[in-house]
Amino acid sequence: MYSKFAIAFDDTVKISGERNDSLIPIIWKIKKFFGIGSEKRLATAISEVRDFAIPVIREKKMELSEKSSLESADLLSMFLSLDHSDENFITDIVISFILAGRDTTIGTTGWVTYLTRLHVSYPLVLSSDTSAGILVYLSDEVKDMVYTHAAICESMRLYPPVQADNKEAAKDDTLPDGTVVKEGEKVTYHPSAMGRMESVWGKDWAEYRPERWLEPERVDEDTKKYWRFVVRDPYSYPVFQAGPRTCLGKEMAFLQMKRVIAEVLRLFRVAPAMAEGVEPVYVSYVTSKMHTGFPVRIQERSQTFSDSCFKL
Ligand code: HEM
Repeated sequence: MYSKFAIAFDDTVKISGERNDSLIPIIWKIKKFFGIGSEKRLATAISEVRDFAIPVIREKKMELSEKSSLESADLLSMFLSLDHSDENFITDIVISFILAGRDTTIGTTGWVTYLTRLHVSYPLVLSSDTSAGILVYLSDEVKDMVYTHAAICESMRLYPPVQADNKEAAKDDTLPDGTVVKEGEKVTYHPSAMGRMESVWGKDWAEYRPERWLEPERVDEDTKKYWRFVVRDPYSYPVFQAGPRTCLGKEMAFLQMKRVIAEVLRLFRVAPAMAEGVEPVYVSYVTSKMHTGFPVRIQERSQTFSDSCFKL
């Protein structure tokens, strides 16, 4: 069951995205002025999201006031201990972290599952040098899951969680290729288009091929291949942005996605449950995802497929 918070959060993202894409912005501004239609729903959804975030902050404040030192090393505790007493400011931070970290990783996990049909390729998630076949999620082991890492990068090349991103020039500037940008003008970089450029990815750009991110490192006596991940220049793969404003949660996102994929596939087989010939549709608001989610059937390893259908 979707929680009230999740519904409100999805509404805020969708309606804000529609504002951003709107060809005639005056329409949403009028709706906002009169508090009608989608703008009325947006105002309600924002207050529902804040109602969820504020108790989390208050609880953490209370916890911190009861402790003599900072025992919990989470991000929220750090912000609160930096003397940020303005609750609105902290609430905005909490919400922006949920926005940054929630749909981006959920959407990507769904696309990876779809694109790799991981239910038939369980060995894919094992680290390059694991022998036990049992995954213990120390971050070093997750780092070793090079093929999964490549599968995730390749999925985000074709279906980036942030499809496009605008920046507005604070003052007149000239881009490295000589393009002049005047103060107030907007520049959009488009990870989704850049991930599909033949000049960057070659003739097979349309193929989902995690191997393009890998190099064989060595071949052992049983001719098993071992792979090395090849890092790409973030300016030609700006899925996490590039330069000083690169995503702060990038490493955390990979760790989380690799853990989830590995743990789910360790316990279950996951098979797409879409009608024959139906393809998921990529939609983008502020962040992107599969339209209507990704219906799958879950089978506990060692058992038969459950009748229940879930959405990733
Ligand atoms: C697959 C997952 C993710 C992708 C593709 C992604 C992508 C991005 C992109 C493109 C930006 C730049 C936005 C802009 O400049 O307007 C960004 C910024 C940011 N991301 Fe992520 N993100 C992901 C996951 C996360 C997670 C899990 C967190 C933390 C919980 C996070 C925290 C942030 C923060 C705080 C910023 C702002 C950085 C700044 O402005 O200096 N992200 N992310």
